[in-house]
Amino acid sequence: MADTELMDKLVSLAKRRGYVFQSSEIYGGTGSVWDYGPLGVELKRNVKEAWWRSMVHERDDIEGLDAAILMHPRVWEASGHVAEFTDPLVECRNCHRRYRVDILLAETGAADLPEAQCPSCGKTGEWTEPRQFNLMFKTFMGPAEDNASVVYLRPETAQGIFVNFQNVQTSARQKVPFGIAQIGKAFRNEITPGNFTFRTREFEQMEMQFFVEPGTDDAWFEEWKESRMRWMKALGLDESRLRFHPHAPDKLAHYAKAAYDIEFFFGGTIGDEGWGEIEGIHNRTDFDLRRHQEFSGKRMEYIDPVANKRYLPYIIETSAGADRVTLAVLANGYREEEVEGETRVVLGLAPKLAPLKAGIFPLVKKDGMPERAMAIHEDLRRRGIPSFYDESGAIGRRYRRQDEAGTPFGITVDGDTLENGSVTIRDRDTMQQERIDASRVVEWLREKIEQ
Ligand code: GAP
Repeated sequence: MADTELMDKLVSLAKRRGYVFQSSEIYGGTGSVWDYGPLGVELKRNVKEAWWRSMVHERDDIEGLDAAILMHPRVWEASGHVAEFTDPLVECRNCHRRYRVDILLAETGAADLPEAQCPSCGKTGEWTEPRQFNLMFKTFMGPAEDNASVVYLRPETAQGIFVNFQNVQTSARQKVPFGIAQIGKAFRNEITPGNFTFRTREFEQMEMQFFVEPGTDDAWFEEWKESRMRWMKALGLDESRLRFHPHAPDKLAHYAKAAYDIEFFFGGTIGDEGWGEIEGIHNRTDFDLRRHQEFSGKRMEYIDPVANKRYLPYIIETSAGADRVTLAVLANGYREEEVEGETRVVLGLAPKLAPLKAGIFPLVKKDGMPERAMAIHEDLRRRGIPSFYDESGAIGRRYRRQDEAGTPFGITVDGDTLENGSVTIRDRDTMQQERIDASRVVEWLREKIEQ
């Protein structure tokens, strides 16, 4: 399958199976905003839960936080977003469509603006001078709509962590080095959004800020870089589709001393020849705490009780996009196979991430098979294992529907179940079946889900 086709196929499967719908579709859709349907919300939750578990639950040195989206406007002056969070924008003088300069050049393959053809109307070189466009969404707090009441929708979750550094450190009695993790929505008024959920205006981040003593930051940066790549692999993303992309020193964000992206190969028009960033790992130095100290007038230093010294910690940031990682999981899992002269569409999601863990099928709609199958389905639900009961249509078609939905196992109640209590379990990927006693289904599935 050509790379460019994959995204179209994913968009169509996502809608058909209830993973992702266009926002406000009945009104013609909202520009680059998407809604997660019944299966999509489960998949994304499983991605976020895997992240939260590895960051917060499995470690003693990272605490969780859920900071508000709306923050004091001075936060964004201190962070540098008011002055620096801009992209260069040009407008086509002919059709008035606007583009981000770097994306326009990358997508048209032009060396510079005079050579670039407008993707919308086809005119070449009819561009206005680039101007800086701030990506933060503005709104008003309270009943007055004036300059004094302007607030921003946060463009990253990180700042909520920085301003709570001392609250968390003292209340949780943490000692540097330690981290604060948070999952939440972020908003950017992207000039050129697109590629499905890859670049949207409302998205979710999974960010962790690790506070370290200056001088130990390079070693911690390396440690987190490797750790985050291991996590992506453990999620089931193919090694061959993952790579690091170091930021050149002259391309670093205003706060960073070093930065690496983890990129996934989506193909098509995403990023650098199909490689798109799914997470950034940054050495932010003491930039953030220093700026908040300066702008708020409050001391942000850490007092080391053992060495009896005070300092502003350096911060190593790991910043992943929940939507981009979810999209990577979908793209990684999508495949088409020829089986007995027909195309089988499979969403090869890891059992721990799959929204539904098993499809439950009575072979036929009689002889007490539906009741036996329903009892298994209800038992799984009660034990927190999401499953789907389906008795309609030929068994082959029911398997195919679940293959496409990404359900890793199919449990069928047949004549033998009525005689000896056994069921068949079909593996989505190999299509092989094994027979086990119905009483072992829960234990069997739990083992696979936890792998
Ligand atoms: N606090 C650092 C920060 O926000 P970033 O590289 O701008 O760094 C981190 O963003 C991650 O957030 C990206 O790797 C990506 O996964 C996700 N992200 C950023 N902009 C996005 C957008 N417009 N749509 C979807 N995800 C986005």
